[in-house]
Amino acid sequence: MILGIESSCDETAAAVITHEGQVLSSVIASQGDYHARYGGVVPEVASRRHLEQIGPVIHEALFAAGVGLDDMARIGVTRGPGLIGALLVGLSTAKAMAWAKGLPLVPVNHLQGHVASLFLGNSPLEPPFACLLATGGHTQVLAVRNHGSFERLGTTLDDAAGEAFDKGARLLGLPYPGGAAIDALAQEGDPLAFSFPVANVPGFDFSFSGLKTSLLYTVRDLGEVAVAERRADLAASYQRAIVLALTRRLRQAADAAGLTRLAVVGGVAANSELRAALPDAAVAPLALCTDNAAMIASAARYAEPLSPAEALVVDAYASAP
Ligand code: KG4
Ligand code: ZN
Repeated sequence: MILGIESSCDETAAAVITHEGQVLSSVIASQGDYHARYGGVVPEVASRRHLEQIGPVIHEALFAAGVGLDDMARIGVTRGPGLIGALLVGLSTAKAMAWAKGLPLVPVNHLQGHVASLFLGNSPLEPPFACLLATGGHTQVLAVRNHGSFERLGTTLDDAAGEAFDKGARLLGLPYPGGAAIDALAQEGDPLAFSFPVANVPGFDFSFSGLKTSLLYTVRDLGEVAVAERRADLAASYQRAIVLALTRRLRQAADAAGLTRLAVVGGVAANSELRAALPDAAVAPLALCTDNAAMIASAARYAEPLSPAEALVVDAYASAP
């Protein structure tokens, strides 16, 4: 069995999976409420909460799976990218446990973890495929040709798609994190009511800053009363522009790379319009789309583990090297 640990942002998570990729337990302690009043994740608040939660969350994951640390063959832990202080809590914990128990450790790239969410369960997706990775911090199109690595075909030049959802929600007076709120509100709105720009930057990259500015000006021009009346139309039109950008790029990049199968991972994969626009794409179950530790354990299946002594010198990194 593999123990997975994730603490890169505002989710403290631990999970136990089998070496065949069956999830035995996946425990996620979300800090959402702690950050909501700030309208975004506050790094120092996140680190402190991780410190309080990490022990109980790992205990809970082992308990729920009905196993102990002695049943583990290795530990997989997120090494980066993410918030350094937050990452260090999970990484230090994993190192200490690996050392104390003599367990091999696999440091996992968080993005590789999101991809590996597709390799879990009874009908795992087999490479090769083109993968849209869309979270609150990253938006990339990847060529996945084997289980253990990926090639980046495109990335965002400014905001991530989830960030665009969150900032848009804020402009519309919706609570943080705003992706799910825009998604729900958009169901009652007309996606063609407003025309928001879909950036066409060269290559397979994304840009969402123009879209965000466009919503800002539209909201300002409409005024408070009209915005309140047309909130659903605004949400639907804004969401349509993001989904168009994502689906267009994914299909273009997949064609260029000669990849016929598509997949979507990350928190934004929960979006109902995105899912509807990509009926041919593989999407992990919702619980595995947002940050979790089962995906980190999954990625740890396909990497060479470090000995406990080698693991002790591993450091966290904030952005991909
Ligand atoms: O993968 P994730 O849980 O965390 C990061 O690694 O960032 O993604 C969180 C992001 C947030 O920006 C959130 O607004 C967005 O995913 N999200 C959604 C939906 N549910 C969550 N965006 C659009 N539609 C949704 N239904
Ligand atoms: Zn993530």
